[in-house]
Amino acid sequence: MDRYAVIGNPVAHSKSPTIHAAFAAQTGQTLAYEALLAPLDGFAATVAAFRAAGGRGCNVTVPFKLEAFALAERRSPRAQAAGAVNTLKFDADGIYGDNTDGAGLVRDLTHNLDCPLAGRRILLLGAGGAARGVMLPLLAAAPARLTLANRTVARAEALVAEFAAGAGNTPLAAGGFTDLAGAQFDVVINATAASLADEAPPLPPGLYAPGALAYDMMYGRGDTAFLAAARRDGAARLADGLGMLVEQAAESFLLWRDVRPETAPVLTELRRQIEGR
Ligand code: ATR
Repeated sequence: MDRYAVIGNPVAHSKSPTIHAAFAAQTGQTLAYEALLAPLDGFAATVAAFRAAGGRGCNVTVPFKLEAFALAERRSPRAQAAGAVNTLKFDADGIYGDNTDGAGLVRDLTHNLDCPLAGRRILLLGAGGAARGVMLPLLAAAPARLTLANRTVARAEALVAEFAAGAGNTPLAAGGFTDLAGAQFDVVINATAASLADEAPPLPPGLYAPGALAYDMMYGRGDTAFLAAARRDGAARLADGLGMLVEQAAESFLLWRDVRPETAPVLTELRRQIEGR
């Protein structure tokens, strides 16, 4: 049987095995998908052992996405732009690295949440790996403008400088949170790690244009601190990152199996499990 895995540390609570099992059942594909805990200093060895045992590909999660990038012998343009790899595919040509996170975010926004990005004003919060990973797909969606805001302004400026050449006609701006005062956005995406600490980025009031969507890449039971603050500040719509998780998995599945699974039923079931409904 074709074997796949998610490799991380920690990895026990990963939803990926559940998601990929559902995709496999739905598309009639015969495969096994497991969670593999790699020692912090043993990512490459874990990948090599999995490959030797017949592994066809794997997802890569915290903290190994940079190591996966380095391990890949060929990479997709979106992995190259992200500087990180969340999907490896093993074939006769060696190790291919892709990054499906940004495509997953864009697909969740445009397909599941019916939130088109073309011509919209997007604010992306954060300038770490999570933000970098979604820059290229967001720009490819042709927003009216893409503004990056981060606690450490220099990191936002550096990221914008890096992507400026590929931004086409899309105006790109970088700044700190206070620089946002007076501006309005249609889509505000939280790619900071603040939600992990149950904190929200300190945003000035009035950022949400009428009908605006606030999106947190994190997910969990109930609102994150960012979503709670967005609700108080008048965001018309709120979404967490569970749809992004399922959509990035679907993109990986497509890469490995050449078939795109239906995500809606899987997302509904996962939400039911997480929210205990
Ligand atoms: P990741 O790979 O998750 O993006 P990272 O590279 O460590 O992780 O980046 C974390 C991001 O969350 C950064 O943008 C960080 O801001 P700084 O660049 O100023 O460190 C942001 N961040 C973390 N905690 C935050 C908080 N409490 N409020 C606002 N931003 C926060």
